[in-house]
Amino acid sequence: MSVFMVDKEIVTCPERPRAMFKMGLSMAFLLFCANMLLLLVLIQRDFMSPPARVAMAVDPPLEDITTNTGQPTAPESSRLPRRLPRDFRMARPEECPAAMHKLTNYAPASMKSKIPYSRQKKFVLGGYQQIDKGSGDYKLVAPLVAKLSKLQHEQGIFGTVGELGVHHGRFTGALYMTARETEKLIAADLFEDLQYQNVDVSGYGNRQAFRQGLESYGLNETTDLHLVHTGTTEDLPFDWHVQSDFEPFRLISVDAGHTAGLTFNDLEIAFCNSVPGSIVILDDFFHNLWPGVTEGFFQFASMGPIDNGVYPFLRCEGKAFVTNDKALHKHYYKMLRSEPKFKLFLNAYAHQVRGSKVKYMMNGVEYLKCSSDKLKRDTMHLLWNSLVY
Ligand SMILES: *[C@@H]1O[C@H](CO)[C@@H](O)[C@H](O)[C@H]1NC(C)=O
Repeated sequence: MSVFMVDKEIVTCPERPRAMFKMGLSMAFLLFCANMLLLLVLIQRDFMSPPARVAMAVDPPLEDITTNTGQPTAPESSRLPRRLPRDFRMARPEECPAAMHKLTNYAPASMKSKIPYSRQKKFVLGGYQQIDKGSGDYKLVAPLVAKLSKLQHEQGIFGTVGELGVHHGRFTGALYMTARETEKLIAADLFEDLQYQNVDVSGYGNRQAFRQGLESYGLNETTDLHLVHTGTTEDLPFDWHVQSDFEPFRLISVDAGHTAGLTFNDLEIAFCNSVPGSIVILDDFFHNLWPGVTEGFFQFASMGPIDNGVYPFLRCEGKAFVTNDKALHKHYYKMLRSEPKFKLFLNAYAHQVRGSKVKYMMNGVEYLKCSSDKLKRDTMHLLWNSLVY
């Protein structure tokens, strides 16, 4: 419209167009300057914003976070690091013993197993099948857990063995088989009475099935388990082991809530109470139907309280095996890779691109991927049996 107006004026007054042109030019220049200024301000703000840890320092006192009523506490967004959802339960480093490097209270060293050798043999040669499959079945992960536990014990790493989310206790059994006489056993689940708190309807823990499972390999829930927590893992304090008087974890399976927030919470509980070299096994990692688990893991790895690192070294049958110590990550990775018994089933390379092999990597480290499709049930029993100690 204005262009036509100007055109008209050109005809009537020859002096005006030049002035108009100059004005237009200076307007454009001013607009350009304003834009540049805005851009500078935005860039500056991005660089100047305080890092996450500084923001966390102004968190509310402990009670505000830990008194959980089942409802998200919805703290003000300024209290949480940027981009972490509001309802996440966030441990400050000073609430998380492992983040403060305070965990040196290993369980006493002893190579004598908690469950008698003959009972273990019976369990691994098929006894485990008496326990109902509460969640997924397993094959290769069971012998891998035995092998890894032996590696830990040879390194002098002794501690509590536990599981968050035991379901019917079949995998719990595979974990407990590895415990030494000095190591405590713990378990946590909503169990059937509290299923209304099962917000994401993942799993259905059953106390009776769990108890019977324990008895099938000779453990008594009352006398042999240090602690069975019935309830949501959001009720647990971040320094759980101090409060409940057990040594920090050596081996802990995380298979409770499957939302990103609950996974984040459970990884905090596991890692905050883990000795260096502890192995955390996260179930349903990269599961198509439970994306929250994967989301929660990576959010924990990048924004959780553990500053010395989160190192996955193995993915197998839907589970991620993760440790908290870089040197031991390397050790576990190397030892598994060079173990002839697992050679057929573990792969370090994801694929080949134009002649060069590409390694499996995540969160900055290499990991192994198992494939157990070709592993027969009978072979698995023999493999597992050969690793009992
Ligand atoms: C487990 O131990 C408790 C306490 O000693 C006992 O009362 C109970 O009968 C035991 N259970 C079994 C199945 O042996």
